[in-house]
Order: sequence, then structure tokens, then C-alpha cells
Amino acid sequence: MFVSKLDFLRYLTNRIAGKDEVGVSTDFLREVITFFAAEEGAVYLFDSNDQLLPMALYPENMRGMRLSEDFSAYLASLKQVALFPDGVSHIDRKWQREVSELGFGAIALVPLLKQKQIIGFMSLAWKEPHSFKANDDNLLYTIGNLLGIGLFNAHLIGGLQVREDELQAMCRALMKAKEEEAKRISRELHDEVGQDLTTIILRLKMILGQKDVEDIHDDVKDLLFMARETLTDVQRIAMNLRPSALDNLGLLASVNWQLEQFRADNNIEVIFRHPHKLDDLTEEQELLLYRVLLEIMTNVSRHAQATKVVIDLWPEGDQLILRAGDNGIGIDLAGSHTMGLGLMGMKERIKEQNGAFRLNSEVGKGTTVMISIPIKKPEG
Ligand SMILES: Nc1ncnc2c1ncn2[C@@H]1O[C@H](COP(=O)(O)OP(=O)(O)OP(=O)(O)O)[C@@H](O)[C@H]1O
Ligand SMILES: [Mg+2]
Repeated sequence: MFVSKLDFLRYLTNRIAGKDEVGVSTDFLREVITFFAAEEGAVYLFDSNDQLLPMALYPENMRGMRLSEDFSAYLASLKQVALFPDGVSHIDRKWQREVSELGFGAIALVPLLKQKQIIGFMSLAWKEPHSFKANDDNLLYTIGNLLGIGLFNAHLIGGLQVREDELQAMCRALMKAKEEEAKRISRELHDEVGQDLTTIILRLKMILGQKDVEDIHDDVKDLLFMARETLTDVQRIAMNLRPSALDNLGLLASVNWQLEQFRADNNIEVIFRHPHKLDDLTEEQELLLYRVLLEIMTNVSRHAQATKVVIDLWPEGDQLILRAGDNGIGIDLAGSHTMGLGLMGMKERIKEQNGAFRLNSEVGKGTTVMISIPIKKPEG
């Protein structure tokens, strides 16, 4: 038992750490119900649509309350603890029926606060009328604050955990992709370039022993052809490592060229609107935008079933904004959808450049990717 209310508060405070939102709610609820000798209780949190979601119920099999919109709104406006020691008679007439259906003798409604903002509430209920002690409301108010902080902590830590898991998955996937890329390049160098060069060397050796000028001439012609092919292979491998088109043509022309290919390969209308010139991008930013656009287009052709893509690129203040939207099947973002390596890599690359990434999509309504990256302001 607790010697004082202060002991109880200290005890509760120590129970916040290391739990998720449901864990903190369940724990607090059980302790508070025991402390106040209540019989039933619940912890509800408002979701982003102001709907109340049960986080914890006590006893666990108690039926959750069905709250009318009005009553939820009333709860959302609670600034103080509301105590109803003798059932419903002091409750606003509007809610009397709703609350009396629950059949309690006494009720306490405790707002859960995060920086003075209500994020949910805790209810306690007694079967018989209950005489609250002086300061019970203050104590419950403090408990509501504590639980609010606990829930907020749990929420933040949960978010961090998700982020960390994402990063780890990303890291593993990137390492694997890098290894595979290295394997592929090594194979290409070995199988194509290496073998061709070996053949060229062998045949050059044979030419050394030849006397007939005409034979030599034919062989050299063959070898010249092979050497040119090998050079093309090397250029292709190098091009995959860093698109030389970017250096030679610049970002806009390279993208336009890629989009031309895309139009030829897919039956999709592509509109690309962009400023006449883009001067203030670093090499990394150009590469970033180029790769982002390629990934977006690959995703559209692989997943979207779209007939049209509109890409806009424009400077806004000290940011460059890229928005690419398709009219395809969209992504169920609320579903079990997990980002693949493509989108995750995009997000990470953009973060590295201090940019922002947003994916908007709704099933049946297409997908829009919007990113912004900071650019130098033109001087003068
Ligand atoms: N434009 C789009 N339209 C519809 N669904 C899309 C679109 N873009 C992405 N998706 C969905 O999101 C998922 C994740 O995309 P992401 O690019 O991250 O991975 P991926 O394309 O499956 O694989 P990769 O790692 O090769 O890119 C896809 O599997 C697809 O289901
Ligand atoms: Mg992809």
C-alpha cells in the first residue's frame, strides 16, 4: 500500500519507462483503479480524426463505451477532472441517458494532457455512489498529466523504433544491393571485357608468326572490330556507374532523353514541365534528381497501370521542387504496404541532401511523389 498520494505518484512515474502506448495505458489504469478502489475503467486516445480509440479497458473484457459524437466532443473539451459521485444526476442532461445506460453509481473522467492539450481521457467507474476525498480531483489531474507524458514518450519512442527498423532494413538492403552490383560489374568485366581482351591478345600473338600480308590484314580487321566492341562494353559499364549523359548533356536534357525512351517503351503520356535552365545544382543534386526521376518512372511503368504522368520541376525560394503524379491504381498507404528499396533509397538520398520527401497516394486515385531540395539562391 502507498503511504501517501505522493508515494503513489512517484510509483506511477517510475512505471512510464520502456513501455509502448498500450502498455503504459494498461499499467496506469490497473494501478489507478486499485488505488481508488474503482471497479471499471478505460483509457481512450483521440486519433488524428478526433475519434476515440480504446488503449486499455479494465476489466479487459468490459465492453467499450460507444460514444456519440457530441459526447466525444464534450470529452475533447475537458480541461479539468470531472467527478460524478452519485451517478448521472449531476451530468449535463444531454449525456444523462448515454451515461446512465452504463449503469454506474459514480464516475470520474480524467483528461490526459500533453502540453496542456488533451490527447485522450481516462474513465473510472464505481458500481455504487462514491464519496471522493478532498483533492482527489487534483490527484487525478496530475495522474492524467503523467499518463499524457508517458503516452507521448511511448509514441515518440515507438516512432524512433520504427525509424530505426527502417534504417536497419535499408542498410541491409543497400549492402546487399552493393554486393550484387559489385558481383555484376566483376562478372561483366571478367566475362566480357576480360575474355575479349584475352582473345585479342592470343590472336595478336598468332599474327606475330604470320607471313602472309593479306591474312594479317584480315586478322587485324577482325581484331579492330573486337577491340571496338570491348570499348563499347567498358563504356556501358562505366555509364551504369555514373550516367555520363549527366556530365555531357546536363540534367534536363538527360531526363528528357530518358523520358523519350520511356514513352517509346510504355504506352503512357508523359508531360515534363521545367524551367528553361537549372544552374544552381551541385553534381550530387543532379545525380539525385536524375536517379529519383528514373525510380519514379520505373515504378510507374512497373506498378501504376497509369496512362499519364505529369512531372513538374520548379524553383521556389531557396528550394527546388519536383512533383511527379500518375493517374494509376495508387498505393494503399494504410494497408500492409511497405516501402521497397526504391522508395526507401529515394527517401534516404533526399534526406542526405537535407531535402524533403512526400508520397501521396490513394487507391484508385494515382500516386504523387513530391520532393524538395535546398538550392543556392542565384546571386544578385
Ligand atoms: N506509381 C506507383 N503506382 C502504384 N504503386 C506504386 C507506385 N510506386 C510504388 N508503388 C508501390 O509501392 C511499392 C514500393 O515501391 P518501391 O519503389 O519502394 O519498391 P519496388 O518498386 O517494389 O522495388 P524496387 O526496390 O526495385 O524499387 C511497390 O512495390 C508498389 O506496390
Ligand atoms: Mg521501385
